Amino acid sequence: MDELTTEHDPAVWRKSIRDSRAKSSQWKEEGDSWRYKNFGLDSYLESFGSLVKKEELEAKQHAVGLDLMGQGQILRDLDIRGVGVTLVDPRNTTQVLDDRAHQRDIISGDVLARQTYKKIEKWLSDGGLSGFNLVFIRPLGGTEALPKNHPELYFTLLSRIWKMMDSEAMLLTEVPTFIPKDVVQHFIDQCNTNGVQAKFVQEETRLTTSIRKAGENTLKVQERFRKNPIKLKLIKPNSASKLPTL
Ligand SMILES: C[S@@+](CC[C@H](N)C(=O)[O-])C[C@H]1O[C@@H](n2cnc3c(N)ncnc32)[C@H](O)[C@@H]1O
Repeated sequence: MDELTTEHDPAVWRKSIRDSRAKSSQWKEEGDSWRYKNFGLDSYLESFGSLVKKEELEAKQHAVGLDLMGQGQILRDLDIRGVGVTLVDPRNTTQVLDDRAHQRDIISGDVLARQTYKKIEKWLSDGGLSGFNLVFIRPLGGTEALPKNHPELYFTLLSRIWKMMDSEAMLLTEVPTFIPKDVVQHFIDQCNTNGVQAKFVQEETRLTTSIRKAGENTLKVQERFRKNPIKLKLIKPNSASKLPTL
């Protein structure tokens, strides 16, 4: 499979990708692993509430949304069209038809594969759409599948998505905690120098999750206090704007 590339030693790089894929396939097997759970608007606001107000998101009725490393529940909650990109599409036929009626879809693909970005571009062009207006990248445990010794990969991924965004589009993301804070700070400074509006917060995130195990009827509500990921909001000033390279 054609992969995203970095400047690193190809052998080391291939091993990182192999390890990440092995993790991802293991998760596919474990249907109820929390790394696999997908949440909607309220939960996203637990992450991004200091950067964006619920009303501001709800006002974006005409937006085209992307939920990268997510199954698009946020798009359904906001009632906007768009696409979720995730390892597997878990929907049944009724859900697929309902999504289709609202111009929503799920692309099953690996964010480490170039092919996945081609599928996203195709989804946009098939719909006659010029780009996304609202992008969420909040993989939670999904970041554990990204190669930790290649933090620059995350920024490559951001740039790929950035190219598919319209002017004035907003991107909200949680930066994987394995990326050093000074690297993120440097990236944010470069963004602001280049005219990209970049704001961030780093605060404790409390996530309330409901876990129902297969075959059990009890719904277990768990509160998790997570490491303090940096939450980032980027606004693309115009379609020609580029993200800084590290
Ligand atoms: C814990 S869920 C989080 C989903 C959602 N963004 C949220 O915040 O509720 C992790 C998601 O990351 C996706 N994921 C993990 N590794 C991935 C990869 N390499 N490529 C695409 N999606 C991936 C999984 O399929 C899953 O949908």
